[in-house]
Amino acid sequence: MQVIVKSNYDDVSSEAYKLIVKIVEANPNAILGLATGSSPIGLYNNMIDGYKKGMSYKEIRTVNLDEYIGLGKNDSQSYITFMKENLFSHIDINLDNVNLPNGLCKNQEEECQRYTALLATMQQDIQILGIGSNGHIGFNEPGTAIDSTTNIVKLKESTRLDNQRFFSSLADVPTHAITMGIKNIMMAKSILVVATGKNKAEAVYKMIKGPVSIDCPASILQLHNNCTVIIDTDAASKL
Ligand code: F6R
Repeated sequence: MQVIVKSNYDDVSSEAYKLIVKIVEANPNAILGLATGSSPIGLYNNMIDGYKKGMSYKEIRTVNLDEYIGLGKNDSQSYITFMKENLFSHIDINLDNVNLPNGLCKNQEEECQRYTALLATMQQDIQILGIGSNGHIGFNEPGTAIDSTTNIVKLKESTRLDNQRFFSSLADVPTHAITMGIKNIMMAKSILVVATGKNKAEAVYKMIKGPVSIDCPASILQLHNNCTVIIDTDAASKL
């Protein structure tokens, strides 16, 4: 694990962007694994600025980590909507090349199989991750099997409370999500974790210094041979 500590969110975002530039410049057809949430928004803003300055994302392909069960493209809080609002609508990406699990699927088991099969054909050149305050990656909560593939997750109360800020009330936060499994994440050629803020300090500590344990899913990343963690001083405060 390579750990880079920057002084604030903006510096974390521009440092993370350098990795993306390197990958897209080396391979315009690169496969980017994307995340939602607050952590990567600054990175996505850098990607949008890069596009305005001439960088092209026309040929890249993307796979997102997860989606809420019950939400889809017409819902303001779905992850497909998030990705459009925070990245896809602002760059020259071909929307035929973006992939997310379908939160509105009729048959959840089939959808998990479809997404895992898709991922088997789309090894991420880089997988971007945030980290939950409980150490989750994607929506793989503590206790998830290390060899999990795409699966349906009952969200922990702590995760629903963390994400309540995006909804009008806790009752509106979905109870379940569909997420890439830990195995699907670990298959990526490289992994980039971005985290900022004091509320991530404990999880960041366990990810980097803790035992590799499914009690903190992010600690499994210690076993990946090309994982970069970019954090601010607050998130690094327990290291
Ligand atoms: C998002 C995801 C989650 C978030 C994590 C951190 O697609 O899978 O694991 O990365 O919950 O969220 P933020 O960045 O909002 O603190």
